[in-house]
Amino acid sequence: MARLPDKPRWETLIDLITDRGYRNVAEIGVAFGNTTEKVAESCDLDLYVLVDETPEKVKPVMDMYWAEKPLVLFPMRSVEASQYIADGSLDLVFIDAMHNYEEGKADILAWMPKVRPGGILCGHDYTRHHHTQVFSDYDDAIDELLGTDLDYSLDSHIRDIQQLWVDVWIKYL
Ligand SMILES: C[S@@+](CC[C@H](N)C(=O)[O-])C[C@H]1O[C@@H](n2cnc3c(N)ncnc32)[C@H](O)[C@@H]1O
Repeated sequence: MARLPDKPRWETLIDLITDRGYRNVAEIGVAFGNTTEKVAESCDLDLYVLVDETPEKVKPVMDMYWAEKPLVLFPMRSVEASQYIADGSLDLVFIDAMHNYEEGKADILAWMPKVRPGGILCGHDYTRHHHTQVFSDYDDAIDELLGTDLDYSLDSHIRDIQQLWVDVWIKYL
């Protein structure tokens, strides 16, 4: 497991996307679009798939960017949305929806096939290696399906206030 430089999750994503020339990405669970906005603004993309079962939260960001950025919002459950995406068609998928074992596992199983060889499956939050007392069975789903050989980054701002579980885990496919 390699630790990448500490930074906010959107900066980690922007670096991965930019450094590798990725153009087709997805974010599963967008909430208020905090990551969406930064990635849309900073990356030169052909497609940015956004999925959220409560899409009204991201409306202000959609209103701001829909005309100039290739955002496609799927207002539905993540596994259902995955059925509209061709296998092997995405360079990077960032999973950040429900963080429990069952739904985390379902999201990984649904979205991993959408990533092409040479792409990245990644997500928010993984507690096991970060000396935190907070533990989630979401980690079990990640370990079970992806193994423990993941790169990761911490969010240095959040870390400073002792919330070490906030990070991005990264699986190279
Ligand atoms: C942690 S927030 C996402 C934060 C966002 N990625 C960011 O970086 O700011 C999780 C979001 O996932 C959505 N969500 C949770 N489970 C879902 C599911 N099974 N399908 C679709 N959306 C889901 C919730 O509605 C919520 O808005």
